[in-house]
Amino acid sequence: MSEVTAHRAAILHCLRDPSDDKDPIAAGSVEYFEDGLLVVADGYVDRVGPAEKLLENLPSNVEVIDHGDKLIIPGLIDCHVHYPQIDIIASYGERLLDWLEKYAYPAERKFADSEHAKEVAEFFVQELLRNGTTTACVFATVHPQSVDAIFEAASKYGMRLIAGKVLMDKNCPEDLRDTPETGYEQSKQLIEKWHGRDRLSYAVTPRFAITSSEEQLREAGRLLQEYPDVYLHTHLAENEEEVAQVARQFPWSSSYLDVYERFGLVRERSVFAHCIHMHDDDRKLMARKGAAMAFCPSSNLFLGSGLFDLAAARRCGVRVGAGSDVGGGTGLNMLATLADGYKVAQLSKQCLSPFKSFYLATLGAAQALRIDSSIGNISEGKEADFLLIDPARTAITERRWRRSSDIAAKLFALTMLGQYEVVADTWLKGCRQRRAAMSDSGELVREVL
Ligand code: GUN
Ligand code: ZN
Repeated sequence: MSEVTAHRAAILHCLRDPSDDKDPIAAGSVEYFEDGLLVVADGYVDRVGPAEKLLENLPSNVEVIDHGDKLIIPGLIDCHVHYPQIDIIASYGERLLDWLEKYAYPAERKFADSEHAKEVAEFFVQELLRNGTTTACVFATVHPQSVDAIFEAASKYGMRLIAGKVLMDKNCPEDLRDTPETGYEQSKQLIEKWHGRDRLSYAVTPRFAITSSEEQLREAGRLLQEYPDVYLHTHLAENEEEVAQVARQFPWSSSYLDVYERFGLVRERSVFAHCIHMHDDDRKLMARKGAAMAFCPSSNLFLGSGLFDLAAARRCGVRVGAGSDVGGGTGLNMLATLADGYKVAQLSKQCLSPFKSFYLATLGAAQALRIDSSIGNISEGKEADFLLIDPARTAITERRWRRSSDIAAKLFALTMLGQYEVVADTWLKGCRQRRAAMSDSGELVREVL
């Protein structure tokens, strides 16, 4: 007997990239049901559509949960985040290379202790779910036990997660280094242990070109040859000093991307965070190879790294998803991340529309990570990862929501206000993860995860 539940609410999701559409709902790239029904069977989307129509054919024994005028959206996707850095989020005063030395490396050193790793991983996964992030592509640390901890925590909740052990064998503190050989062996063991288990996937994770020898990058390429369906996750062209150092360290390279390309690291399921200081030739190469960019606006503003060029990415046809990049980023909330994305676009005299923005953390992110056949929207047959958004959770979102004329304006305001409290509930493959209990007067009284 299959388990079937129906959810009645407003429903909003993307069916394709809305960038070219003046009115994405009319054009069909975005679908919106003001009074919609989502039918979930055994963790998968069975049907979605107007409530009135679907209710006609719904078997009478199916439970219908009426969420009133709240909004169902797909689970949000974070394409780039460092879980070990959650404890140094919002640390003052540095730009990338000094920030790594002063804050990131000391925080990551603590993950030699697997008990510490477990405690942080559990908090991190809960925090993702609280913020409505149902899938994330995650950096661990150089320690293999840090990867075990995050995969264990994600699998406990049934969450989709991509993660990997950091590879770094130079230009970082001695006690955080591996070697080309140990990095290769440890990664291989972790791939064998975790890749494809539950909803988990492995990412070969050289930190960035600066912290790897050529031998290590070659070994990373070897892993990708041996395991073609794992990910490659790294940083690219985030900061000008970093780009200059890469040019000095790899004098034979024609660009930063060329370093990765030389070792076979630019391909489908390659995720490059930042991609700010680069040229169209490299963007086009990424597009040809099917690689993806993670746009991390909060981090780029916080670390003063620069302005990501969304229009150039689009012009060159590269896949782009949004990333929080915590601890460089200042929060796990993808709505707040997208709000910063809008401001980055404004500073570049570009415009990030409400639906395009929404796409970057839902279907666009799933396409960047090449998991759009499983998640990214609420289409029939996909895994039922979705959120219930309740604008009434904060006074300002409630007020602004009521005063917005249409769903585009409502979505825009909700995104810009970036309040995680509006994520009232999170479902992973049809399983409800959290219930924020309300008092009779509608006050949030406790939160159970
Ligand atoms: N480049 C190399 N390592 C890091 C990191 O931990 N955070 C960010 N934002 N950029 C990096
Ligand atoms: Zn990062």
